[in-house]
Amino acid sequence: MNPTMHSHPATLLVIVGATGDLARRMLFPALYGLERDGMLPAELKILGAARSALDREAFRAEVEAMLSAQAAPGEAARERLLARLEYQTVDLSAAPSLAAFAARVKALRRGVVLYHLSTAPKWYGPFCAALAAAGGIDPGVRLMLEKPLGHDLASAREINDAVESAFCEDQVFRVDHYLGKEGVQNLLALRFGNALFEPLWNARHIAQVQITVHETVGVEGRAEYYDASGALRDMVQNHLLQLLCLTAMEPPSEFEATAVRNEKIKVLRALRPLGAAELADEAVFGQYTAGAIDGAAVPGYGDELGRPSRTETYAALRVRIDNWRWSKVPFYLRTGKRLAQRVTEIYLQFHAVPHLIFAGARAQPNAMLIRLQPEERISLLLMSKTPGLDRDGLKLSEVKLDLDLHNAFADVRRRGAYERLYLDALEGNGTLFVRRDEVEAAWSFIDRLLAARQALGEEPKPYSAGSWGPGDAAALPTRLGHRWRE
Ligand code: BG6
Repeated sequence: MNPTMHSHPATLLVIVGATGDLARRMLFPALYGLERDGMLPAELKILGAARSALDREAFRAEVEAMLSAQAAPGEAARERLLARLEYQTVDLSAAPSLAAFAARVKALRRGVVLYHLSTAPKWYGPFCAALAAAGGIDPGVRLMLEKPLGHDLASAREINDAVESAFCEDQVFRVDHYLGKEGVQNLLALRFGNALFEPLWNARHIAQVQITVHETVGVEGRAEYYDASGALRDMVQNHLLQLLCLTAMEPPSEFEATAVRNEKIKVLRALRPLGAAELADEAVFGQYTAGAIDGAAVPGYGDELGRPSRTETYAALRVRIDNWRWSKVPFYLRTGKRLAQRVTEIYLQFHAVPHLIFAGARAQPNAMLIRLQPEERISLLLMSKTPGLDRDGLKLSEVKLDLDLHNAFADVRRRGAYERLYLDALEGNGTLFVRRDEVEAAWSFIDRLLAARQALGEEPKPYSAGSWGPGDAAALPTRLGHRWRE
């Protein structure tokens, strides 16, 4: 293979785990979206691989079923996508099966190939070793890996070592699907496409930052996986810390993989570790009990799991970034399942005015709200004069300068995260993927927290499904005179 191949678009996408839940909910719908818009390379073939013994027709029928909500039978884009599909049964634990799989890829390959492993991460290492043994790795091979990348620093290192013994870092694309979201990229556009905010984006002007990822869903039939993970591993280690990086990082010199990831890793390395001494004041963990979501009764976590558990389905943390830009600014992170409302947002509160000239008036500090989900919205919360003749003094009220991005771009289709991520990986652009050092720095922060939690041995605080989380979480910011944005 020509060594310059690494810059060419892939002509073969191999999805390992092609009949799984992620493939059904996200991957094939994303590929269909790209197909419909004519964005897939004309010559691209897609080889689905999984343990099930299917032939090509049976696999195509499975993918048709995955697309049933999006595309009617006979619809042109659907037919084009189905025509790209091939299938190969593979048992990742059996050397002969892996060898047959490697031979099939070799037969189908015409140029660059992208492997997307949507399997349990324990297979990542053996898969790379088998591919290397079959002589299937060269500069024209890319590898896209799903989370979770390990369950702690040691296991993440083990996976990364195994991957690194077969691939160079620029051939590896570690997915954090939050980075593929339109709203998340818009955070970068807001920060680095405007001159207005950057001068204010630091400790001199910002008093506190809140990053919220609230979900209404429960563990969705993944109770066993989730119980071994919990909110810290499942959400904080990846999505919340990535949002923190994008919010707090220095401006990269260009929107390019090395430049962006070099800035993100600096944030992760500047994160002050949270250990046992800090935990009582700076972290709250919860677990949902039975309650109601949108008026429908839902069971508690223990009932869904079928046994009592100490796994946290909610985590709220106060973290610090020890650098000049963010010195002494608390960053509050919170995430949980079965909460009242689905919302992902970043809230930055500015310092209060240094001296209020309006006697008797009350001024709230200015704030900026960046809502990423379910709708994209940017609001600036400002003080305005309350209309009136002010005989007993001028009054102030908070008003919103509101930018509704759904309306602003009403005629533009919103892309699912995997549409963007697939195109970028097919083209070899790693900007929106996570580098090895980021994954490991994030794990080292989480490992310490987990160990501290274990040492303290506290039960997670119960909260009713459909509430805003455990009562103790409400108190977390009040220790520094702050309040969660509700
Ligand atoms: C996944 C977690 O990474 O992200 C899930 O494993 C979580 O537990 C999901 O529900 C949230 O993603 P989104 O795109 O729905 O916000």
